[in-house]
Amino acid sequence: MNKHQQHQPPPSFPKHFLNAQIHLHKIVSSFLIFAFGLALGASLSIYLKDFPFQLYSTQNKYSHLSTNNRTFSSTPPPQSLNIPTNNRTSSSPPPPQSLNIPTNQTRAKTSAASPVPQIGLKDYTKSPNILHEMDDDELLWRASLVPLRQGLPFKRTPKVAFMFLTRGSLAMAPLWEMFFKGHEGLYSIYVHANPDFNDTMPENSVFYGRRVPSKNVTWGQPNMVQAERRLLANALLDFSNQRFVLLSESCIPLFNFNIVYNYLKDSNQTFVEAYDLPGPVGRDRYRHKMRPHIILDQWRKGSQWFEVDREIATAMVSDDKYFPLFTRYCKPPCYSDEHYLPTYVSIKFWKKNSNRTLTWVDWSRGGPHPSKFMRTDVTIDFLKKLRHGSNCEYNGKPTNICYLFARKFLPHSLDRLLRFAPKIMRFN
Ligand SMILES: *[C@@H]1O[C@H](CO)[C@@H](O)[C@H](O)[C@H]1NC(C)=O
Ligand SMILES: *[C@@H]1O[C@H](CO)[C@@H](O)[C@H](O)[C@H]1NC(C)=O
Ligand SMILES: *[C@@H]1O[C@H](CO)[C@@H](O)[C@H](O)[C@H]1NC(C)=O
Ligand SMILES: *[C@@H]1O[C@H](CO)[C@@H](O)[C@H](O)[C@H]1NC(C)=O
Ligand SMILES: *[C@@H]1O[C@H](CO)[C@@H](O)[C@H](O)[C@H]1NC(C)=O
Ligand SMILES: *[C@@H]1O[C@H](CO)[C@@H](O)[C@H](O)[C@H]1NC(C)=O
Ligand SMILES: *[C@@H]1O[C@H](CO)[C@@H](O)[C@H](O)[C@H]1NC(C)=O
Repeated sequence: MNKHQQHQPPPSFPKHFLNAQIHLHKIVSSFLIFAFGLALGASLSIYLKDFPFQLYSTQNKYSHLSTNNRTFSSTPPPQSLNIPTNNRTSSSPPPPQSLNIPTNQTRAKTSAASPVPQIGLKDYTKSPNILHEMDDDELLWRASLVPLRQGLPFKRTPKVAFMFLTRGSLAMAPLWEMFFKGHEGLYSIYVHANPDFNDTMPENSVFYGRRVPSKNVTWGQPNMVQAERRLLANALLDFSNQRFVLLSESCIPLFNFNIVYNYLKDSNQTFVEAYDLPGPVGRDRYRHKMRPHIILDQWRKGSQWFEVDREIATAMVSDDKYFPLFTRYCKPPCYSDEHYLPTYVSIKFWKKNSNRTLTWVDWSRGGPHPSKFMRTDVTIDFLKKLRHGSNCEYNGKPTNICYLFARKFLPHSLDRLLRFAPKIMRFN
């Protein structure tokens, strides 16, 4: 007991003094740890300041991968794309934000603040808005972009683009409405009308809101071909469009939608009428100044009411070699709309072109314009003749379905067509 007491501190050292000593010890060690931490923090921050660029470049590259990966989750969100990474004079970039894992909330917050939202394939493949403010050069350039990679990494239902080149109102619209009804998702409609024509299509019409930004067209002049290129370019912006049909305001469909759609979709040829015609309205319209790009033997004539695939449509909007020759040298009595496409397609795509048109027209009465059909011309027999009265080839086999459309039908023939169509053409 005594021995024990010897080791006890003298009474002059009260018990609480000993406690204070232990306390001091603790404070000193805490301070040391703190100082060490401070030094570590300081050097780390200097290190980070010195290498912000490396950090940011990896962040940008992998920011889209950061979703579930802790390794990358500490990197700031794509917000940092704002920071001028190549500008050393700018104030030091903000420290890598929170070291915590971004939750949905922080991701949502940052992506809302971000001017560069993360892009998915959807943004490239969805049907674009029909209205845009591109001028022709911008539009044709945009439409000429094509993927080089074969195959599709997503599912696509091919659509047919029905392009109406009109002056004013579409008198046959009610017939076309009947034709398109119930087939949404398989077609796109584009209407090019002169700008001073006032659109009066009702909201429930398939034509509602389908007018593309247009310019005045003079029938037969190169600006008419330019209008066709403008229509094609607008239609090309929709990646789903695979087939492109040009129609006029006096055109009618001869078969129901399913037949027309499958005929176009399954064809291994395109339908641009092209033939070599001696004489004043054919070869005589050739201009020798078009040499050497176009020689007389390549000169073709045909109808402007064409059907092409995506490859030819893209080539047409991209053509800066042949089309300018027509603009410069094909002036009346040479008409670009009758010669440009037949000549161009025959030079570049003759292998897959059928050289025939899908739009029936009657030239039998002679003269510079084809026959126009009035109300009394429209009979059941007449329509049957247009539908099956010819022979041609389709995918290498003979067929009597050679025309899917016909022109020129005057507005007052509409009521009879509406009456016969459900029975003859089986619209339903
Ligand atoms: C996270 O990223 C690292 C990168 O080094 C990688 O090795 C790992 O597989 C990733 N984990 C997941 C779940 O993606
Ligand atoms: C870098 O940023 C400064 C200030 O923001 C700016 O004045 C300068 O033009 C920029 N330099 C470059 C090369 O971008
Ligand atoms: C987080 O995001 C995923 C995918 O966007 C979503 O399914 C989930 O509901 C979100 N969770 C919360 C808490 O918002
Ligand atoms: C088109 O509509 C505008 C306003 O609705 C009107 O002022 C103009 O006269 C119309 N033009 C024609 C050609 O009808
Ligand atoms: C378009 O052409 C018509 C005649 O076809 C003319 O009256 C009109 O002024 C032209 N409009 C423009 C914008 O050039
Ligand atoms: C179309 O016409 C071209 C000549 O321009 C010819 O080479 C080609 O064989 C024709 N194609 C068919 C299917 O007749
Ligand atoms: C289209 O298909 C038919 C039948 O298989 C074939 O004979 C023809 O050569 C094909 N045409 C083209 C342009 O591929």
